[in-house]
Amino acid sequence: MVCLGNICRSPLAEGILKAKVDSSKVIVDSAGTGSWHVGSKPDSRSIAVAKKNNLDITDQRGRQFSVSDFDEFDHIYVMDNSNKENVLDLAKNEEHRGKVKLILNEIFPGENVDVPDPYYGGDSGFDDVYKMLEEACEVIANKL
Ligand code: 4NP
Repeated sequence: MVCLGNICRSPLAEGILKAKVDSSKVIVDSAGTGSWHVGSKPDSRSIAVAKKNNLDITDQRGRQFSVSDFDEFDHIYVMDNSNKENVLDLAKNEEHRGKVKLILNEIFPGENVDVPDPYYGGDSGFDDVYKMLEEACEVIANKL
């Protein structure tokens, strides 16, 4: 799960999908394309909306997306089109490029819709993001 800062959207996506899959079979992780929040906890508003939905994401720490992630993971879900461009810029081959998918295409196939970045907005933005990610992760978990 990849976003820009790895403190708002992708930590939620990581927590939501982790709760839906068998951890002995599926490894779920998240990262940001930027490095500003490496080592940081998720944003307090993401922690709060997760808690409201009975998920604890406080153990997560920010990390930056790395080229090695293309080999480590089978699927790379990005939150928005700008994340997608940034990740694709690091891809070395067609196999890498083929792993990168916009997460909301799981619920709106082919529409290339962004998960809006809630960082500069209010708390309701985090509720909206949670709902979108919950729906998309349900589809992903069923496919896995
Ligand atoms: P995220 O949100 O990509 O969903 O984690 C952001 C968090 C921090 C910043 C931008 C987006 N930032 O510029 O610090």
